[in-house]
Amino acid sequence: EKGTYPHYMLKEIDEQPLVMRKIIQKYQDKNGGLSIDSEIVEAITAADRVYIIAAGTSYHAGLVGKQMIEKLAGIPVEVHISSEFGYNMPILSEKPLFVFISQSGETADSRAVLVQVKEMGYPALTITNVPGSTLSREADYTLLLHAGPEIAVASTKAYTAQLAVLAIVAEVSAKSRGREIGFDLVQELGIVANAMEALCDSKEIMEHIAREFLTVTRNAFFIGRAVDYYVCLEGALKLKEISYIQAEGFAGGELKHGTIALIEEGTPVIALATQENVNLSIRGNVKEVAARGANPCIISMKGLETDEDTFVLPVVHEQLTPLISVIPLQLLAYYAALHRDCDVDKPRNLAKSVTVE
Ligand code: F6R
Repeated sequence: EKGTYPHYMLKEIDEQPLVMRKIIQKYQDKNGGLSIDSEIVEAITAADRVYIIAAGTSYHAGLVGKQMIEKLAGIPVEVHISSEFGYNMPILSEKPLFVFISQSGETADSRAVLVQVKEMGYPALTITNVPGSTLSREADYTLLLHAGPEIAVASTKAYTAQLAVLAIVAEVSAKSRGREIGFDLVQELGIVANAMEALCDSKEIMEHIAREFLTVTRNAFFIGRAVDYYVCLEGALKLKEISYIQAEGFAGGELKHGTIALIEEGTPVIALATQENVNLSIRGNVKEVAARGANPCIISMKGLETDEDTFVLPVVHEQLTPLISVIPLQLLAYYAALHRDCDVDKPRNLAKSVTVE
């Protein structure tokens, strides 16, 4: 039930802090640390490479998950779009572990890959929100998102839940390989939950920003570097699926190789700046588009902000910024769709779970 909320999407955006706390609670062991089923830890430890397979928003979560697992646990990870895997199959490592990320656990494109890799005899783990779903039943192992039912077609809380569970997988894998990650993930996820709460309280500002930047435009660009780039892909997908604004996410440095040709007077360019090591370079990209008439909206993180920024995010650990930087983008998409009179929860041409290949 959506209760007093006008839309499921807004309710689900607001549930994200609760989902974080639920995930911490579900994955916390009696010593207060994080743990996952020992069979799964063994499967990860035995693998020489992880292949993440997913579609849409879950694919975007996979891109962030790759970074977390590689940086924290030192295990090589590839991320593949499920519908492409069949014909663009990479040369597999000797001991691959396949990880399927799927909110619904029913996505046919992902299932086709699961069937294929099971036939090849490889182990598979499904990360899903739906216990007993097809991908969960057919894989060897399952990790649950504990996000509660996601009704709105546009995925929000499942994405951040996927990121949290992937962070836990990364941390637990690091530990099992004797690596020190250098921070306390339970504590940092708690900080994320608090930051999410603060962001969910900033709806009025987001409505205002959406009105200013997105009410009349035909298109919009999202730019970021490093992990911000992946969140930009997700922000653009949210915006296009519910507001029908043509939106694309780009790596900041890639703009000048073509896309900058599309910048016109007033084109909204939403830039994420949450990473210290690319803060200067992404701001350089903002200057390039602004010089060509773009209307830049900079979303930065406290400590990295400048006077020109439109919105400043609270500080979280640099490995976890996607968990909070996506929230303003979800809210911008929501309000843009609302201002443009779109059906937020049931966008045209889309189904909640895509059960055909
Ligand atoms: C976007 C969205 C879709 C799904 C995709 C995969 O908001 O909802 O892109 O993420 O269809 O679905 P699952 O995760 O159920 O496999």
